[in-house]
Amino acid sequence: MSLTWSAKDHKNMNQAAATGHKRSRNDTGNKATVVLGAQWGDEGKGKVVDLLATEADLVCRCQGGNNAGHTVVVDGKEYDFHLLPSGIINTKSISLIGNGVVIHLPGLFEEGDKNDKKGLKGWEKRLIVSDRAHIVFDFHQVVDGIQENERQATEGKNIGTTKKGIGPAYSSKASRTGLRVCDLLGDFKDFSMRFKNLVHQHQSMYPSLKVDVDDQLKKLKEYGERLRPMVRDGVYYMYEALHGSPKKILVEGANAALLDIDFGTYPFVTSSNCTVGGACTGLGIPPLNIGDVYGVSKAYTTRVGIGAFPTEQLNAEGELLQTRGHEVGVTTGRKRRCGWLDLVIVRYAHMINGFSAIALTKLDILDVLDEIKVGVAYKLNGKRIPHFPANMDVLQKVEVEYETFPGWKTDTSAARKWNDLPAKAQNYIRFIENHIGVPIKWVGVGKSRECMIQMF
Ligand code: GDP
Ligand code: IMO
Ligand code: MG
Repeated sequence: MSLTWSAKDHKNMNQAAATGHKRSRNDTGNKATVVLGAQWGDEGKGKVVDLLATEADLVCRCQGGNNAGHTVVVDGKEYDFHLLPSGIINTKSISLIGNGVVIHLPGLFEEGDKNDKKGLKGWEKRLIVSDRAHIVFDFHQVVDGIQENERQATEGKNIGTTKKGIGPAYSSKASRTGLRVCDLLGDFKDFSMRFKNLVHQHQSMYPSLKVDVDDQLKKLKEYGERLRPMVRDGVYYMYEALHGSPKKILVEGANAALLDIDFGTYPFVTSSNCTVGGACTGLGIPPLNIGDVYGVSKAYTTRVGIGAFPTEQLNAEGELLQTRGHEVGVTTGRKRRCGWLDLVIVRYAHMINGFSAIALTKLDILDVLDEIKVGVAYKLNGKRIPHFPANMDVLQKVEVEYETFPGWKTDTSAARKWNDLPAKAQNYIRFIENHIGVPIKWVGVGKSRECMIQMF
């Protein structure tokens, strides 16, 4: 494969243009399958990616940072991933951290070393890092904490960030003062000067910020050298993967649609695009190379941090979902807020992402309930609204219209195929499918890899 166009390529291109032909799969190359969160995060994306990664050649992260926490259980061993793509478990595939990700280097190596001790050997040899990815510095994390305190002091509430420096690092990126992996591995004198300027810029905004610049630079140099063998031109690497021999490429979304900086419940969101566009911009994948887009949704809803949550249940049912579902954040250890499945948000996520199919996880958590509710519409002043409100004050005020289903009161954790599920659970699943208008391809009934019913 070559990057230069041959006369034959031009001829084919001109012929296609002349005949108005839609480009075929062969012309466009391989397609990337994308897995995205359809709610407020922690839907079980890691588990779905792990399942698909068993056959993938390349598993990529395209956005976010170590604010993500993906749990994968294989052979009774539980792995937590924050920056590493969950596919890193598969020793036959390569994992790629794309340009859209923000990387905290100490966090990356700590995570790798921790998983190495659990038996994840050779991860550094299977990991590729884009040279265009931005770096999260320790001071970005400190600033994240300062900003949260300031929000609390001035507005009486904060966002409830993970304090992993995500917002401040993406702010540096957007204000064009950020530093990337290619800068760290280039002229270190130049990097050091730009790093000092960036620190000063932040200190002028946050006078309480203390940074030991020399110590930071010493550590960054060491991390840079450890990272160097993994670093590639991410765009060219992806181009080769898309246009070389047939390959299965998987993109693992982090965070989720309702946390998306553009489409989420702003300002109670993260700082990246966690919807399908993030797969293109965060990896350099042309839209024509996007194949199936799978949305992941729990059979109920959870949210970590602050912000409107129309179907939240601040009652015994919410507590039951929290305890049975072990709804505790992987990254921060915070209890997740719990409520009924909100199909308004999943449909909204589908409007943006165009899901090919859905993975419905944690059905088993509902096994003991007498009655299960599903939010199907929002009403304002007694009238149904067809859209998802942009304004958080409006979202706080919506009244949720529910459908109520009888519980199946049966243990589903041993179900491995559709027919193993009780009829009432099947009805629940079919209702969700019809309401969203997207087929459900997988149903999760437990934590481990085999606890996933494949429907087609
Ligand atoms: P992610 O951030 O979307 O990858 O999700 P997390 O890993 O943060 O949270 C999902 C949690 O639910 C993890 O602890 C998973 O092991 C667990 N999980 C995923 N699918 C299922 C399922 O179908 N049933 C049960 N009981 N647990 C599941
Ligand atoms: P995964 O990939 C759940 C939430 C935080 C906070 C807000 C902003 O595991 O689904 P940030 O640190 O990103 O600036 O925090 O976004 N948040 C998540 N909640 N799962 C996640 O990722 C999240 N990533 C960010 O709790 O409310
Ligand atoms: Mg998570």
